[in-house]
Amino acid sequence: MTNPLAPAWLDVPADANALPAAVWSQSARRAPSGEVTLAGVPVSTLAAEFGTPLYVVDEDDVRSRAVRIRESFEREFARVGGHAKVYYAGKAFLCTEVARWVTEAGLRIDVASGGELAVARAAGVDPALLGMHGNNKSLAEIDRAVSLGIGSIVLDSAGEVAQVADAAERHGRIQPVLLRINSGVHASTHEYLATAREDQKFGVPLTDASDVVEAIRARPSLRFVGLHSHIGSQIFESDGFAEAARRLFDLHARILAGGDVPELNLGGGFGIAYTAADEPLDIDDIAARFARIVSDGAARAGVPIPTIAIEPGRAIVGPSTTTLYTVGTIKPVEVDVPGRDARALRTYVSVDGGMSDNIRPALYGAAYSARIVGRTSDAPPVLVRVAGKHCESGDIVVDAEYLPGDIAAGDLLGVPATGAYGWAMASNYNYLARPPVVAVRGGRARMIVRGETEADLLSRDVGVAPPKEVSR
Ligand code: LLP
Repeated sequence: MTNPLAPAWLDVPADANALPAAVWSQSARRAPSGEVTLAGVPVSTLAAEFGTPLYVVDEDDVRSRAVRIRESFEREFARVGGHAKVYYAGKAFLCTEVARWVTEAGLRIDVASGGELAVARAAGVDPALLGMHGNNKSLAEIDRAVSLGIGSIVLDSAGEVAQVADAAERHGRIQPVLLRINSGVHASTHEYLATAREDQKFGVPLTDASDVVEAIRARPSLRFVGLHSHIGSQIFESDGFAEAARRLFDLHARILAGGDVPELNLGGGFGIAYTAADEPLDIDDIAARFARIVSDGAARAGVPIPTIAIEPGRAIVGPSTTTLYTVGTIKPVEVDVPGRDARALRTYVSVDGGMSDNIRPALYGAAYSARIVGRTSDAPPVLVRVAGKHCESGDIVVDAEYLPGDIAAGDLLGVPATGAYGWAMASNYNYLARPPVVAVRGGRARMIVRGETEADLLSRDVGVAPPKEVSR
């Protein structure tokens, strides 16, 4: 029965055991026993072998989405006489395995720091396939990227022109660079604001861009590749991209008068389904819309279609991962129904992780969904709020979900679509150890990032194990 505390978008599911295909990774299934398997591996096996909380990545889900995004964009751009390049935005989740999966799928990687660059290098990725971002790159990061022969650096401010040019001169290289533009368009879920988002730290305002491009072209150690724009994340519509592209094409046309501009990078931000209520665009549809936006934009500006680069992160890794938790304390709490003279029950289900393994609900109010994955149940669903184990009332894993009313301590709970910005933004709050990441494929599981131990947590505290001898 509907609980008045539930948000308007949340329906009582017809079957509280179902795994909606749009939300769960491609290989998630219920076995005849009722237990969920991920790529053929039962969740109880995963929990027994690796413990909980646990991030379980469906390897083929990541690989196939990466291939599909690349193929869709290549096909749709070929149709309008253009070319597309796809970068994976490593900030969503980067480790050496994922770097290999996406490059084997024919993608490049966008790195946003020296640390991400180090991971891509450790994975053996050809530096020519990397692009580097950052609104405040250190001189050391710039130097390292240039010396490695990084494919491109996205300049984020006028001041970086000289910093990168000087580094390129020192290393005797000609460094390809793009210029990130603050187009004033900011898109977020379901809406876009065409104004008022100049007020943010990224990129160079449209009005200053021509001067900065001129400064880039004046430095022989730099090769200007094109403009870059990223308008936001978890976007479900293409209007914001179209508006940004229109603004960028006007500028692109103007700077073409001063020399070559082979590329235009429209960033990432394609949305995914976190709950059954989310309806993201299909990737073929996104690619077709992008191709139309770009061919229209080029035609209107009277310029040839440049090579288009995109850099999605979430759309590639987000849906691949399920976080497994073990249920602990359960507390039915009677609360006032807002705006009504009534009380209703909310069942708080606490799990063994929380905001340290997924900060997104606490940070953005992000909605997630959940299922009991160790078994099925016919018990009527009740409204639950899945909470973590941190000392903080905002420590929420799933704000609102209907789960079978017989949920009990010891149940395994699965939260799908945690592959992007979950592990990547994990912390050690309350000295919780960050969980391991396990990849599943073809009935087998293997750890790709080790979990932290208590020894790891203590290892950087200088007071824990003072040196036995003090050298003088
Ligand atoms: N390119 C640039 C320049 C970006 O800043 C980002 C994300 C992306 C690409 C990839 O966006 P995606 O396709 O993954 O949406 N931590 C937040 C999102 C912040 C993303 C920052 N930049 C979250 O958990 O939703």
